[in-house]
Amino acid sequence: MKQDIFTGTAALSKLSEISRQAFSSVFVLCDENTLAHCYPRLKEFLPAHQTLIIKAGEEHKTLATCEGIWQQLTLHLGGRNSLLINAGGGVICDMGGFAAGCYKRGIPFINVPTTLLAMVDAAVGGKTGIDFAGYKNQIGLFCNASAVFVDTGFLKTLPDREIVSGFAEVIKHYLIAGKNEFQKLLNLKLPVRTYIDDAVIAKNIAIKQDITETDPLEKGPRKALNFGHTTGHAVESYFLQNPDKKLLHGEAVAIGMISESYISYATGGISTNELNEICEVIFHYFKLPVIPGNAVNDILKLMLQDKKNISGKTNFTLLNGIGNYNIDKSVEENVIIESVKYYNSMLA
Ligand code: GLY
Repeated sequence: MKQDIFTGTAALSKLSEISRQAFSSVFVLCDENTLAHCYPRLKEFLPAHQTLIIKAGEEHKTLATCEGIWQQLTLHLGGRNSLLINAGGGVICDMGGFAAGCYKRGIPFINVPTTLLAMVDAAVGGKTGIDFAGYKNQIGLFCNASAVFVDTGFLKTLPDREIVSGFAEVIKHYLIAGKNEFQKLLNLKLPVRTYIDDAVIAKNIAIKQDITETDPLEKGPRKALNFGHTTGHAVESYFLQNPDKKLLHGEAVAIGMISESYISYATGGISTNELNEICEVIFHYFKLPVIPGNAVNDILKLMLQDKKNISGKTNFTLLNGIGNYNIDKSVEENVIIESVKYYNSMLA
């Protein structure tokens, strides 16, 4: 089913119109950051509502935080016809969608993404969930937001590290389905804030929607959107164990895209030149850490929980030239280890 997505200057006026429809009550989920920086602007467009505030950060994307949301909804008599508006980044959209999808067996929710990552990825396509037992998005539902409202004005409030993190998903979209856009990025290497505009956001949402509408439940082609995420999620979970070294999601995906581009190269999917171009773009935008040599076994173990695995085998989405991909590729462990070594060698 096509998801209603509103972008551009009129998006928040449209939100105003839709949120005033016949909902019995309206709740707005924010974290401390979006409450301070985004909510003051957003609330002008909303009918009477109750705010639900949670702590910011991936470490709070937990069942305990969801319980808090459900308690607040219950306390304020949220019902089947209440609306939850998720105002925030990937954590808020993923967890708010999950909380709404479970509460009273499902209430309508709307996403108002405020980070680049959420605008081009998390808010769109119906994946919701929480982290569990040290694994990313281990518990969740496919459950579409009733609508998504993207206003790039919110990006002005975002620290540079966050906006660059979101750019990883833009690069990913171009690597799997945007050869020309990738070439332009390689040639111009514009700063992220100069490059991102309504047209770029709309292009990225279109790439994602084309895939998610074909395969909403990730039985096949949607796995393309996981390019960079098999290594990326494992690396992100590994670094999450040490709060001082925490990586942002997009930073982990950037590392994952280098590892998985190397694997694509090592298995004949891309040329040396293409591998070099991908590294050139990623290292132009991202400042990334070394992966400690003794982390590799942990990372391999974390990969065993990847949701694309079949019969205990770690499956990758790999590139088949820039702008094209193959799914369900199982890879020898020694090639995965080589890919991490290759990544580290690029930092030397
Ligand atoms: N973020 C990947 C997906 O939505 O499938």
